[in-house]
Amino acid sequence: MCPDRGLPNLPPADLAAALAAWLAGPRSRALRRARIGLRRRVLEVGCGHGAVTAELRRRAAGEAVALDLSARPGVAQLAARAEALPFRNGCFDLVFFQNLLLWVPQLEAAIREAVRVLQPGGDLVAVEPDYGGMMEQPDLGLQALWCRGLHRAGANPKVGRRLPAACEAAGLRVWVELAHLPRPASAEVVSLLEGLPLTESERRQAAGARQIVENKAGDWGVFVHVPYFLVVAGKA
Ligand SMILES: C[S@@+](CC[C@H](N)C(=O)[O-])C[C@H]1O[C@@H](n2cnc3c(N)ncnc32)[C@H](O)[C@@H]1O
Repeated sequence: MCPDRGLPNLPPADLAAALAAWLAGPRSRALRRARIGLRRRVLEVGCGHGAVTAELRRRAAGEAVALDLSARPGVAQLAARAEALPFRNGCFDLVFFQNLLLWVPQLEAAIREAVRVLQPGGDLVAVEPDYGGMMEQPDLGLQALWCRGLHRAGANPKVGRRLPAACEAAGLRVWVELAHLPRPASAEVVSLLEGLPLTESERRQAAGARQIVENKAGDWGVFVHVPYFLVVAGKA
């Protein structure tokens, strides 16, 4: 893999920051619903470069702990898996995921762990995509490329639609909203795609799409839309 594309499950910091900025409005709504301003022990699972970490720390009433599969100095304080959290039962009042659960092969195990470390009255907040619901204009074939590339990288491109039922099955009270944020396409969306394992012919197709997007940057004639599931699920 080309080193400047980053890992498939961790795009370069500038792309992660742009994606986090695009999701800022819906994420803020979900965090407000989870009463982040009153939360004293927040856990962020899969913090990556920390695109949301500072926001959680600023908005929480107390501490926000950031964890990732691979700890990064200055961002993730702990290296651990979402499916096996190194904390005792009930020691957080909010557990946050963004663009993480699609990368976890055992979704139910990650949710079970979040429920275990939440105290009663705590909330799980998830902001996760569903590439199966992707729309594009014109049809550049990007949806199929994204789904295949993510699948090949070990991710579930349609994790969003599985979340409400998975949270419900774990005994949580579920609130769900679909975040729709269509915008004129930018080259960022193709850059993220290019970080995935694609075949040579898929890579050529992505390069063709990049050209079309770059020629029409900021023009509504070309847009690519990925719906995000916002889930706030409370532990009784
Ligand atoms: C796409 S990045 C998202 C980072 C950040 N949440 C954001 O929105 O910018 C996914 C992150 O999840 C981490 N990750 C992947 N699988 C994980 C797992 N099973 N447990 C914990 N972290 C995981 C990766 O190391 C990566 O940093």
